[in-house]
Amino acid sequence: MEIIIQPDSETATAVATRIVTRLLREKPNAVLGLATGSTTLLLYGALTRTKLDWSKVTTFNLDEYVGLPPAHEQSYHNFMWENLFRHVNIRKKNVHIPDGVSRDIPKFCAGYEAQVRAAGGIDLQVLGIGTDGHIGFNEPTSSLTSRTRIKTLTRQTHKDNARFFGSTDKVPHHVITMGLGTIMEARQCLLLAFGAKKARAVAAAVEGPLASLNPASILQMHPNVRVCLDHAAAAKLKRADYYRRVFTNKPEWQRI
Ligand code: GLP
Repeated sequence: MEIIIQPDSETATAVATRIVTRLLREKPNAVLGLATGSTTLLLYGALTRTKLDWSKVTTFNLDEYVGLPPAHEQSYHNFMWENLFRHVNIRKKNVHIPDGVSRDIPKFCAGYEAQVRAAGGIDLQVLGIGTDGHIGFNEPTSSLTSRTRIKTLTRQTHKDNARFFGSTDKVPHHVITMGLGTIMEARQCLLLAFGAKKARAVAAAVEGPLASLNPASILQMHPNVRVCLDHAAAAKLKRADYYRRVFTNKPEWQRI
């Protein structure tokens, strides 16, 4: 894992933006795995301001709430179209987001996995992290080899996401999420986390034991993960000095 600690969320996002733009320039038909949540807003904002050609890009979103139709204000369909897709020249047919109103969820999930495979797999998976350590919506005790499936939100996530819905009782209990096994097959992962609220989950993911109780810790087994943090999210890392030393002393050819 490469841990990149920046003074604030803007500078950390600038690093992440360079990683994504470099990929899309080198591989115009790249397959991106995308996340939602407030953390990704700065990244998507920055990407819409770069002159990138999205006409050959394919995307797969990590997750969606069960029961929310695409037009629902809080659906991840709406989030993605509002914050990224409608600002770039991506083709609608190349956008994939789990269908929260699918009538046969297991069948939908198997089909989603097949679509990822048919697209050649994910080149770069963007990730946020929940305060309970989830990535996508893989809550603690998710199987470390899980695939796309239905999950029930923990009380913590339910509470965390109530801020978007106005009240807890409006937050769906179920979601469809790519599994940890699905995420681990991406050729590259880019995790972003900002703010003190994420510090514990980040430390558990990066330096904690590999355990289903810390779903993001599975990324320790991935050969190509970058973690972009602001100061506050990095506050509980024991080896922060080392990560800063690595980043400052990168050989020229490895600079981001
Ligand atoms: C959400 C999403 C995750 C996201 C995480 C953090 O519920 N399912 O993909 O990374 O929780 O969200 P935020 O960035 O708003 O803190």
